[in-house]
Amino acid sequence: MQDGIPMPLTALSFRLNGDSVTVDCRPSERLTHVLREQLALKGTKVGCDAGDCGACTVLLDGAPVCACLVAAGQVTGREVVTIEGLAKCTTYGRSLQAAFLRHGAAQCGICTPGMLMAGAALLEHDHQPDEQQTCDALGGVLCRCTGYRKIIDAVMTATQATVAPALPASGAAVGARVERLDGAAKVMGTEIYGADHWPPDALVAKAIRSPHHRARFRFGDLAAFIADRPGLARIFTAADIPGENRFGALPAFVDQPVLADNEVRFKGEAVALVVGDAAAIADLDPATVPITWEPLPALLDIDAATASDAPRLHQGRPGNILVRGRVVRGDVEAGLANADVTAEARFETGFVEHAYIEPEAGYAERRGDRITVAACTQSPYLDRDETARVLGLKPEQVRIVPTAVGGGFGAKLDLSVQPFIALAAWLLDRPVRMTYTRPESIMTTTKRHPSLITIRAGATRDGKLSALDLSGDFNTGAYASWGPTVANRVPVHASGPYYVPNYRALTRAIHTHIVPAGAFRGFGVPQAALAQEQIYDELALKLGLDRLEFRIANALSAHQPTVTGQVIGDGVGIRDCLEALRPHWQRALGDAETFNAQHDISKRGVGIAGMWYGCGNTSLANPSTVRIGLKPDGRIALHQGAVDIGQGSNTVIPQIAADALGLPLALFDLVSADTDLTPDCGKTSASRQTFVTGKAAELAAADLRRQLLRLANAGEAAEISLDGSALTIADGELQRRIDVSTLPPGRFGYVLAAEESFDPPTAPLDADGQGIPYAVYGFGAHMAEVEVDTELGTVKVVRITAAHDVGRAINPLLIEGQVEGGVAQGIGLALMEAFTPGRGENLHDYLIPTAGDMPPVVSILVETPASVGPYGAKGIGEQALIPTAPAIMNAIHHATGVRTYRIPATPDVIRHALLAKQRETGFPSRPV
Ligand code: FES
Ligand code: FES
Repeated sequence: MQDGIPMPLTALSFRLNGDSVTVDCRPSERLTHVLREQLALKGTKVGCDAGDCGACTVLLDGAPVCACLVAAGQVTGREVVTIEGLAKCTTYGRSLQAAFLRHGAAQCGICTPGMLMAGAALLEHDHQPDEQQTCDALGGVLCRCTGYRKIIDAVMTATQATVAPALPASGAAVGARVERLDGAAKVMGTEIYGADHWPPDALVAKAIRSPHHRARFRFGDLAAFIADRPGLARIFTAADIPGENRFGALPAFVDQPVLADNEVRFKGEAVALVVGDAAAIADLDPATVPITWEPLPALLDIDAATASDAPRLHQGRPGNILVRGRVVRGDVEAGLANADVTAEARFETGFVEHAYIEPEAGYAERRGDRITVAACTQSPYLDRDETARVLGLKPEQVRIVPTAVGGGFGAKLDLSVQPFIALAAWLLDRPVRMTYTRPESIMTTTKRHPSLITIRAGATRDGKLSALDLSGDFNTGAYASWGPTVANRVPVHASGPYYVPNYRALTRAIHTHIVPAGAFRGFGVPQAALAQEQIYDELALKLGLDRLEFRIANALSAHQPTVTGQVIGDGVGIRDCLEALRPHWQRALGDAETFNAQHDISKRGVGIAGMWYGCGNTSLANPSTVRIGLKPDGRIALHQGAVDIGQGSNTVIPQIAADALGLPLALFDLVSADTDLTPDCGKTSASRQTFVTGKAAELAAADLRRQLLRLANAGEAAEISLDGSALTIADGELQRRIDVSTLPPGRFGYVLAAEESFDPPTAPLDADGQGIPYAVYGFGAHMAEVEVDTELGTVKVVRITAAHDVGRAINPLLIEGQVEGGVAQGIGLALMEAFTPGRGENLHDYLIPTAGDMPPVVSILVETPASVGPYGAKGIGEQALIPTAPAIMNAIHHATGVRTYRIPATPDVIRHALLAKQRETGFPSRPV
């Protein structure tokens, strides 16, 4: 549209994936739009529409380009190759796809088409690229999941001849490096994400959002606004919501309106929803919607929100404090008084954006008195219940069908598009779809809590921790989201994985007029670990002790009480992790000493940090239920409702079930999350799916196995096999054959079926936080080696060595991927990521690590089984991020002698600290 006049369409001809095509479109149309909307090639993804993420990478005359920056008119007469044509049109496309599967290079898969196109373009010119060439070629494509290492390996080895590995035999699935069972669609570009599918008659929804951090508002004549604009169907406001106009993940904290009523509390909060056909919505200027704004003073930080005269954001939350957390054990003042050395400091962390490459998207469709919502989510049953509340329906009237999820990390635990599309589809009785723009995604979805943490700790001359005292304030933004979880989880974890006899940790989640902070990989524990691990380094240095040995001396044992008084009993592998690092530590310290003797400006340092993390909810019910059935054709249906957001539950849960049943993985058909088809497996969060859903799968499969054995009166050790519908049960000499197709089908059409639940055994915490918050903890420690340019303040991470106690490594390939992805996010947290609310809501101002920022990662998997877990397994997803940033900060200190106390430690922050140190000492900083 130009000056209200539609632009004429032009017939553009070009070659696409080897064939000639002609499309009628505007020459200025983005190529991404033409490919996806007109040619239905949805393999090319859109992560930003601004040339920042590379998800839309295609080949134009053989060169990789961002299709979102290419005008359709530019491709006339030229050759375009998309992921759909990769195998056919490039020399190594097919083997590169296989290499991605082999290396586990696709996790959520949303970046995978772009990565494959960039990698294939490189291989056309150099079929054996080195690492630098590979990183350069992939540098324009962002990945938030993998940490790039496996992608780099896949590209570098793609042209080597290999044989596709077979799936493991019966009884050998647990512990095998099984390729992702859902991986093929990701590397083919056929995976369906939230923005990839909708009914043909779907309308499009667009939210109208506040331009102010805080304001009152009133609408003008909305009916006239809609009537004047052909193509717009309706505009919805808070008055249209048939149920309750509020949502929230935690039952006691349901406080966020779907559409604000009268007053907005953060910039970007939605006040209205416009629905219409795609062209009319594309042409809609939100500023033309008749709204009168009255801006009000806003509280933008913790100090402003806790001032005595600060306006109250929520009734019943005095001092703008959403919730407090508390864990107290022993006598912290006495412990500090008895210490031979003490250290104290105040640490500050900023907002961190999830920056998954897939913006939120989905569609909703009403059928009679039911509604289906297909969207990217981490929590289908929670979505179902929240959507039902908003629409005033019973939960059974809502069906949630999660699409593939292009990264989540916690933010997709909260509703985004779901209530909007459900509201519009329900009231219009038409399908409605919605896709957030990148700025909309960053502006409105939850962030990692900024924190201000004050910490004191003490130790005795013999190198034992005597006390730790921590108080932490967390900026939770305008609404609750998962703020209570963060405030409660931090005090439980802030000791780190060490025995601390005297302990006090007090936290507050504080409301401000900022986008809500919520769940983000680690739920506040990464912020606490930054404080605790740096202060422990200070204690070790004051005592003149080796920093690793100090940690080993204080490592929690299975029979010592934690700070909540829990004696875990088994599965405590922190000492094993730290000891596994010892040879690497000694080698790295030697390397740093040699390097520093040879360099004046660039200084190398080595840092270490430990971690523990409780798997699942904190002292709350946390069940998963899994159903498994034998089909008449002899295949096994596994209904597992754990949403796979890239972490691998679609592979790991079947591995567990296969071995518990005693049948090969190849016989399994997965029924993925769908509230009509799969029982509730809870949320994909808090590192709970391998542990909790995995245990439910183990129990269900074991029950089905018992039923099969009963058919033949066979003992527990009998072997089961299936050849089509022919079941053979062999128990010593006894051998029984049964044609399962002759058995009468029961519920769900299965001839035999089992359904089991597992809820981790925990106990409530008392007023001092004493109790059993988690049944299982993951443990780990990272060692960082860095080089700091003391003139520029830049930091290069040279290597990360990561030891993790995973209980039992169900799938080492996928665990390594989680570790490398966590390390990448930890590097971003430490060195570069900072979101400023109201500014820079895009991926060129908000920087995340690229392939070139990723050092080699050495993963060491420690197996200290937790008897309550499936085959002893624990979670790994959240754990992998936690120790990276403090290990890097400790390494920077080791290299330079300065601490920044604030992250991200960007070059200006480090340079400032170095100059301050020089002013203080009169000498250039030197390694300690
Ligand atoms: Fe084109 Fe992000 S969508 S670069
Ligand atoms: Fe790369 Fe998820 S696998 S963004």
